[in-house]
This record gives sequence, structure tokens and C-alpha cells, in this order.
Amino acid sequence: MIDKETRIKIAIQKSGRLTDHSLDLLQRCGLKYTRARDQLICFGENMPLDILLVRDDDIPALVRDDVCDLGVVGLNIVEEARLGFDDLDAGEPFSIAQRLDYGHCRLSFGYPEEGPVQSVADLQGQRIATSYPNMVTDYLRREGIAAEVVEFSGAVEIAPSLGRADVICDLVSTGTTMTAHRIREGETILDSEAVILRTPVEIPAEKEAWVDRLMQRIEGVMQVRESKYIMMHAPKSALAQICELLPGSEAPTVLPLEGRDDKVAVHMVCRETVFWETLENLKSVGASSVLVVPVEKMLA
Ligand code: PRP
Ligand code: ZN
Repeated sequence: MIDKETRIKIAIQKSGRLTDHSLDLLQRCGLKYTRARDQLICFGENMPLDILLVRDDDIPALVRDDVCDLGVVGLNIVEEARLGFDDLDAGEPFSIAQRLDYGHCRLSFGYPEEGPVQSVADLQGQRIATSYPNMVTDYLRREGIAAEVVEFSGAVEIAPSLGRADVICDLVSTGTTMTAHRIREGETILDSEAVILRTPVEIPAEKEAWVDRLMQRIEGVMQVRESKYIMMHAPKSALAQICELLPGSEAPTVLPLEGRDDKVAVHMVCRETVFWETLENLKSVGASSVLVVPVEKMLA
């Protein structure tokens, strides 16, 4: 049995495009876990946190109903579920605690290459196949378009060739699926990425302290993804220019160089991608011996 008073329950997708990333994120936060024999629960060994592996479509309701304190799921699933909850006056069903910057995709219209529809301006009276009926219906209502929404639970892209729909509205990540079915991507109605949902119910204090800790670690993990520690030798006179070339960094550490009055060693953390071009620009303002190393952990 899971102790609900003291242990955090976090729902993640059982198998799908977010699963590996989400487990990896929790591991990078320091979590060690054992997987139960039924494979549906992972028990945290070194944190009071257990992972429930569930269908992604079930995650919003599990968090709304406070069965789970947290859930990791795509914004596409969140928004579709939110529109489907009928007790809209009952207050927010959950809050989005953090955007996670992985699982990026978009919900877009798709128009068969040989069909008459070229843009949303032509949608009036058409049949739209989608697995996101709530979001599509909501979009059509806001735009004042009368069209028929045909619900598909999967394989939406084959609906036009089956004669079941004129256009589709589906998730696009690389675009390969639509292209392979001779469908052209049209307007996007939602940009999605993985997010953390948080229960609307107050979390007991002891547990809350761990939730705060986890959220801080997640922020740290996200920050180090692109972060680099940069070391170089530079003319004292070029310090201001160097800081300008490395946006997203805090005040640099400046160290004296033995036997040199004109040059110093500069160390700084840069939170954005450091491109070759940046290094070339550093060199052109006088920097030398530039070293760029990855950052493993960071606590702001
Ligand atoms: C989505 C979507 C497309 C595909 C698009 O399905 O329904 O089939 O991904 O990706 P692409 O642009 O990179 O080709 P998903 O893999 O999420 O599976 P599902 O539809 O069964 O949930
Ligand atoms: Zn799904």
C-alpha cells in the first residue's frame, strides 16, 4: 500500500513518446526506484515519491481528483481534458507547475494534397477527423466555422483516404506522418510540450516540502541541459565585451594570472548554447585558451 499522507504520487505515461524522458528526468533529480512486479508502480527508494505508470489520457483526471499529487503529460492531453471536464465552474481542475521543454509537438490541421481545402478559410461544411474533438470544436466555435468533427482514437491520417473525412487535425512532431500520407500541414491550434500538473488540493506540509525540493531539482536539471562552464584568458580591457558575448551568464569570476598585469583568467557559467561562432567572437576580442565544459548539476 502507498502511504498517501507522506509519499508523493506522480503519474507518468506508461509507454509512449514521453515515458523515457520523464523517467530520465526523475532519475536526474536523484531518484532511485524499484519497479513493482506488475510494472505499474515504481517505488522511490531514496525519496518519498512513487511513480504510477498510466495511460497519458488518464493523467489529467488522476491529478484533478487528487489520486496523484503530480502528473507529467503533454499540454495537448491537458487542454483536451480540460475542455472535456463538465464542472467548469468548480474551479481550476489542476495547475501547471512547470513546462518541461521536451515532447514538443503541435496540433495542426492537415489538408490532403489533392483536396479542395487549402486553409481554415475553406473549412465551412467540411468533415474534420481528429483525436482532439474538444479542442477542434472549441476552435471552430471561436472562429465561427460550421464543420463536422469526426472522432478517431488513432490513425487519423488515414481518414481522408478512407473517405471518412475531408481534412484532419492531428499532432505533428517531425511532420513525417502527414507527408507520408500526402497531407499538407496547415494552421496550428496548439503548441505542446510536456508539463507537470499539480493537484488543486493542498498538499500535507511534510509532503509539500518534498514537492518543493523536487520542483527545484527539476529546474536545476532543465538549466544544466544547455549550460556550460567557460574558462579563458582575456585582456582585462575586454571583460565587458566578453560578458556581452555570453548572454545568460552571471557575473564572471576574475582571477589574476601569474606574472601578467594586462590579462586575467575568466570563469563563468553560460546558460545558453555556446556555439563555435561565440568562441570565434571571444577570440576576436582577445580571449585565448578558451575551455567549454558541460555542467552536471546546478542549484540556483
Ligand atoms: C502522433 C500523431 C501522428 C504522429 C506525428 O501519434 O497522431 O501519428 O504522432 O508525428 P510525426 O510528425 O513525427 O510524424 P503518436 O505517436 O503520439 O501516437 P498516438 O496517435 O497513437 O497517440
Ligand atoms: Zn494517447
